[in-house]
Amino acid sequence: MYEYAIAWEWLNFAVRWLHVVTAIAWIGSSFYFIALDLGLVKRPGLPAGAYGEEWQVHGGGFYHIQKYLVAPASMPEHLTWFKWESYATWLSGFALLCVVYYGGADLFLIDRTVLDIEPWQAICLSLASLAVGWILYDLLCKSPLGKNTWGLMVFLYLVLIAMAWGYTQIFTGRAAFLHLGAFTATIMSANVFFIIIPNQKIVVADLIAGRTPDPKYGVIAKQRSLHNNYLTLPVIFFMLSNHYPLAFATEFNWVIAALVFLMGVTIRHWFNTTHARKGKPTWTWLVTVLIFIVIMWLSTVPKVLTGEEEQASLSTREQTFVANGHFEAVRDVVQGRCSMCHAAEPVWEGIARAPKNVKLETDGEIAAHAREIYLQAGRSHAMPPGNITDLSPEERKLLVAWYETTVEGR
Ligand code: HEC
Repeated sequence: MYEYAIAWEWLNFAVRWLHVVTAIAWIGSSFYFIALDLGLVKRPGLPAGAYGEEWQVHGGGFYHIQKYLVAPASMPEHLTWFKWESYATWLSGFALLCVVYYGGADLFLIDRTVLDIEPWQAICLSLASLAVGWILYDLLCKSPLGKNTWGLMVFLYLVLIAMAWGYTQIFTGRAAFLHLGAFTATIMSANVFFIIIPNQKIVVADLIAGRTPDPKYGVIAKQRSLHNNYLTLPVIFFMLSNHYPLAFATEFNWVIAALVFLMGVTIRHWFNTTHARKGKPTWTWLVTVLIFIVIMWLSTVPKVLTGEEEQASLSTREQTFVANGHFEAVRDVVQGRCSMCHAAEPVWEGIARAPKNVKLETDGEIAAHAREIYLQAGRSHAMPPGNITDLSPEERKLLVAWYETTVEGR
């Protein structure tokens, strides 16, 4: 049923489009308010209850914004809420998770060399991890540890590293990274849905009833916003990572993930400090670049060879092929392990067209995609998906050697 495959592909694109647009709206407004908040100026003569103000110029006019903490004396006539940006991002992201990873569980979610489970089991694990993650996080914030801002952050960081490792023990590297992003983004969205907005509603109800709102609601919301602030950039990294197999499909992918969370903090710290007009801590960029270099290096560290895999070096026959620039060995591997999907007319069930239009049948096609083959199947384990066609370590080595000695070196 090729119509089904085509409709599914377009649904995928439509949901992705929606998800990116809603995410731009959410992250955009969130960055805007963080900067606004940090830049507020206190001056004498502000109206009663006003905490600070800021002047801004944009779109041909001047804006004069004042922030009231906890709330103004009475309920304003019109109030604009910011919540659907966040909800729509989560909902569309969840829809995309269903379309790509639940719908394509065999290819994208499950790696039977990591954990041999059925699609329904993998989907249950995925859903449970997102729900449990939020519950655990929320309990931590409400526990005594929650009073200690930095203590809590360090503990949450450890939880995230544990999740990064855990996901790589269950799913494909690609799904592991995506889930780490979804896990974090679920916490961020749930913060808005379960904590920040309900607390604001209590304050609004107090205002309407003429009561003075309790300042504790502002304090709670601020803590959650702080977490969201630092988690934003890593989430975007994980969501984009599925195009970059060196990040998600190499041996130390979970360590890479742990470092990505640190970059989220170092980059945001620069912006937070700058917006608060407290100087420009250039050192944070230096640290970010260093972390990035470590990540790049980590992606090249090979698996520690043990037992069987120690024999995974190239046979003399293959070595001669590579040394002589012979192409046949590579062609055999690619045609044997890749062409069932990557063909003008794929024979793999459920694949109607060559994925991403990458065809790997003729010598010309294989040569034209040498670099992608090297990155997706040699240097990383992204292809074949879940190693579904059993590409062996020897064969991966052959692909690496072919690219590094003959293609690059020629
Ligand atoms: C079971 C089918 C299947 C097999 C076998 C397979 N692939 Fe893929 N390949 C896919 C799918 C599906 C995608 C699209 C992934 C996505 O949507 O991001 C893909 C994408 C790719 C891409 C493009 C990646 C990108 O994001 O631009 C390359 C390159 C690639 N495969 C190379 C290979 C190589 C090399 C092999 C053999 C070692 C191989 N594939 C084996 C299904 C397969």
